[in-house]
Amino acid sequence: ALKAVVFDLDGVITDTAHLHFLAWRSVAQEIGIRFDEAFNEELKGISRMDSLQRILRHGGKEGVFNDKQCLALAGKKNDLYVQSLASLTQASLLPGIREVLAEIRAANVKIGLASVSLNAPAILHALAIHTAFEFCADASRIVYSKPDPEIFLAACAGLNVRPEEAIGIEDAAAGVEAINAAGMLSVGIGPGLGHAGLQLHSTRELSWKCLSDFWSSRSVLE
Ligand code: BG6
Ligand code: MG
Repeated sequence: ALKAVVFDLDGVITDTAHLHFLAWRSVAQEIGIRFDEAFNEELKGISRMDSLQRILRHGGKEGVFNDKQCLALAGKKNDLYVQSLASLTQASLLPGIREVLAEIRAANVKIGLASVSLNAPAILHALAIHTAFEFCADASRIVYSKPDPEIFLAACAGLNVRPEEAIGIEDAAAGVEAINAAGMLSVGIGPGLGHAGLQLHSTRELSWKCLSDFWSSRSVLE
């Protein structure tokens, strides 16, 4: 039976994916690297330092900055990002999220979080939904970014469920890969996620009915 649903945060629960983009774009501009939203897709689900490395590679500046300079660039990005988070309120939840969280809870299924963002706890508080989560994986203890399954496995372990008993929900290609690699069922929100077990256009389509129908359709096949 389905025992848990594990959510990604940025781009699934709230639209911070765009705020990450704006902060990185501004830091990148300062070092002469331009990038657009298409390239930004490749940063979704990727940790702060790994994102910086990808941006430097994208701009042909790999190896140009030493460790200390890289930490400073990542710090600058985070300062800008955290400033932009000040505008987050309960109204910043993506459509349908509040409702689906309540429905999952009412069905007695556990809810977990698998975000590699070190800002995740602060964001959940700003959105006033931290109490909906029975367990949030600790991003500071994660060694491998998505697409590695580590963070989803950590979330399942913390919820005390097996990955085969859980659904993961993601907006990033690397995130869907991570869910699949963990052995969970994957739900992808948005375009370009053909490898998700269930693909939805928007969080509006998320509901307990859609998740439980997906779960039973897959369990019949196996
Ligand atoms: C992920 C985002 O959730 O968190 C990435 O999709 C981001 O874009 C990563 O780089 C790390 O976030 P933070 O807040 O720790 O810099
Ligand atoms: Mg995301």
